[in-house]
Amino acid sequence: MLNTQPSVSSLVDRHNRRFTYLRLSITDACNFRCSYCLPDGYCASAQDAPLSVEEIRLLVGAFAQNGTRKIRITGGEPTLRHDLAEIINVCKSTPGIETVTMTSNGYRLTKTLNSYIDAGLDSLNLSADSLQPETFKLITGHNKLEQVLNAIDLALDLGLTTVKVNAVLMREYNATEIGDFLEFVRNKPITLRLIELMQTGDNGDFYSAQHVSGIEIQQRLLKTGWLQVIRHPDAGPALEYTHPDYAGNIGLIMPYGQNFCDSCNRLRVASNGNIHNCLFNEANGNLRPFLIDGDTEKLGQYLRQVVLGKWQGHQLEQGFSGTTQHLAMLGG
Ligand code: 5AD
Ligand code: SF4
Repeated sequence: MLNTQPSVSSLVDRHNRRFTYLRLSITDACNFRCSYCLPDGYCASAQDAPLSVEEIRLLVGAFAQNGTRKIRITGGEPTLRHDLAEIINVCKSTPGIETVTMTSNGYRLTKTLNSYIDAGLDSLNLSADSLQPETFKLITGHNKLEQVLNAIDLALDLGLTTVKVNAVLMREYNATEIGDFLEFVRNKPITLRLIELMQTGDNGDFYSAQHVSGIEIQQRLLKTGWLQVIRHPDAGPALEYTHPDYAGNIGLIMPYGQNFCDSCNRLRVASNGNIHNCLFNEANGNLRPFLIDGDTEKLGQYLRQVVLGKWQGHQLEQGFSGTTQHLAMLGG
C-alpha cells in the first residue's frame, strides 16, 4: 500500500546532489523528424510496450515517497498518447508531487492543451528551433511553426505558471537567428532556452558539423545588459538571464561547459521502464519487475541504490556519449 506521508528526499548521491525531479518518458514515438534526433523519422521497434497508467501510478508513488516533487512528462512526443490527460492526473494527484510539467513539440497542442491543464498540468516546455517557417521545416520535417507559435500563445493565455521554449543551436540552421530569438521574448513572458547540441550515439557527424558553443552567446548577453538570475538551490543546470527591457528571459544550456553536472537534480525513466541516472548513461536497470507486485518499498530501495551509483559528471568532453542513440529514447 502507498504510504501517504511523503518523506524528505532520500535520493541523495555520493556527491551530495538531491534528486527531487523525475523526467518520465511515456512514449519513444514522435511525429517530427528533427535533424539532430530522428532525421529519418520514428521507426517503431519491437521494443517493450510503454508503461501503462497503472504502472505509472505505482512508479510515481515510489518516487514521491522518496522525495520527488516535480515530474516532467516527456517522449518522444507525449501528446501521441491518448491517455495523456489521465497520466497527468495520476502524477498530479500523487501525494508529495507538487509540479507536473511536460515537454512537447507543440504541434497538436492548440486542440488538447485545455484538457491537460484541467488534468493538472502546471507548466510547459515547447520546441521552436527556428522562428523562420522554412528553416523550422528543414529542421523538423514539418511545416508547423505557426501551430507551435499558436500553442505558445495559448499556453500563456490559459495561465500556465511557466512556459519555456527550447531551441537547439545548430551552426548551419539557426546560429544566425540569435537576434530574432532575443526579440521573440521582448514582449512574451516566456523563457527561451538556447541549448547546445549534444552528441548522441546516432548523430556524430551532424554533431561535428553543427555544434556551436553557448559561450559566445553568454558573452553577447552579458555585454548587452542581460543579467544572470540568481539560481534557486533546486534549479537544474540551465543558466537564466533577465533584462529590464524584455518581458521574457533567456536560458542557456551548455552541457559541455564546466561544472554542468554539479547542479544535476534529475533522474530519468524511459517509456519501457528503464531508469537512467544520467542522460548519457546506459540504463541502470528496469523498474518494471518492481511494478508487477506493486512493492513500492522495494522499488524505493532500488532507486536509492541507483542514485548512489551516479558518476560525478558525464564524459562528453572525452567524446563519450553513452549508449543513448537519440534523445527521443529519453526525452532530453
Ligand atoms: N541535443 C540537444 N537537445 C536535444 N533535444 C533532443 N535531442 C537533442 C540533442 N541531441 C531537445 C529537443 C527538445 C528537448 C526534449 O530535447 O529539442 O527541446
Ligand atoms: Fe521528436 Fe523531440 Fe526528437 Fe524532435 S527532438 S524528433 S520533437 S523527440
